[in-house]
Amino acid sequence: MTGFDTVGAAYTAHSDSARGRLRHDLVERRLRAEFTARPARVLDVGCGNGEMTLRLAAAGHQVTGADPSATMLATSADRLAARPELADRVQLIEADLESLPFDGERFDAVCCHGVLMYLAEPGPAIARLAGLVAPGGLLSILAKNRRSIGVREALTGDYETAHRLIESEADRSLGNLGRETRGDDPGALDRHAAEHGLSPLSWQGVRIFHDHLDDTWIPEPAAYAAALEVEWAASWRSPYRDMGHLVHTLARRPERSRS
Ligand SMILES: C[S@@+](CC[C@H](N)C(=O)[O-])C[C@H]1O[C@@H](n2cnc3c(N)ncnc32)[C@H](O)[C@@H]1O
Repeated sequence: MTGFDTVGAAYTAHSDSARGRLRHDLVERRLRAEFTARPARVLDVGCGNGEMTLRLAAAGHQVTGADPSATMLATSADRLAARPELADRVQLIEADLESLPFDGERFDAVCCHGVLMYLAEPGPAIARLAGLVAPGGLLSILAKNRRSIGVREALTGDYETAHRLIESEADRSLGNLGRETRGDDPGALDRHAAEHGLSPLSWQGVRIFHDHLDDTWIPEPAAYAAALEVEWAASWRSPYRDMGHLVHTLARRPERSRS
């Protein structure tokens, strides 16, 4: 039993909201642009309710979703059962980052989205994940952005909390599920990846202009599409990207040099 066994329904409600969907759409768009192997062998660590696992399988990739929460994994399995056409492209396993059963196996992409914020520090996790990336493969990390801690609170009018977080240069704040979560600096994540032989790619800020809206933000399809394009355009560019609630960092393992 992990702390996530009790928040599965709340997480899925948030994940399915327009605000949650923005994040998934932005991350999926970037991943699909960066994949070189088709179909790619993908490992989605901390797959939660299987949103990205199923999206990538639907795009034709072979995806293993791993999560330590039996409840989250059961939600993934239920969602997979509703998509029988994806059954032979998805494998689900109950494991945390520290106990992944893949000695010697390597993947074209290793995703770890929305997990580092629950860990005490990013270094050991990135070391473990980087070791699973095949030559030419990608490491994709979605983390809470330390640079923007306090912005959500300020934009929602909680000035007292925002003031405290900003003045103390806090590295954590209350997350969507009502827990304190830790932020990472994208530059530090890139350095950790580089220490393990990966070459960092451009990082993106995720949910810059829409993070402070709550899950009652239900835009019409055209408004959603326009919002997504604004977020995408800003996600690459400072200073906008520095204000994203999340950061998407990616790094690639160089291909083996030909002898
Ligand atoms: C906020 S959810 C994110 C789910 C999904 N990756 C997404 O982006 O929508 C965090 C997930 O990380 C999992 N998790 C927590 N600690 C973990 C660890 N040490 N290793 C792997 N997964 C972990 C939780 O069980 C939960 O399903």
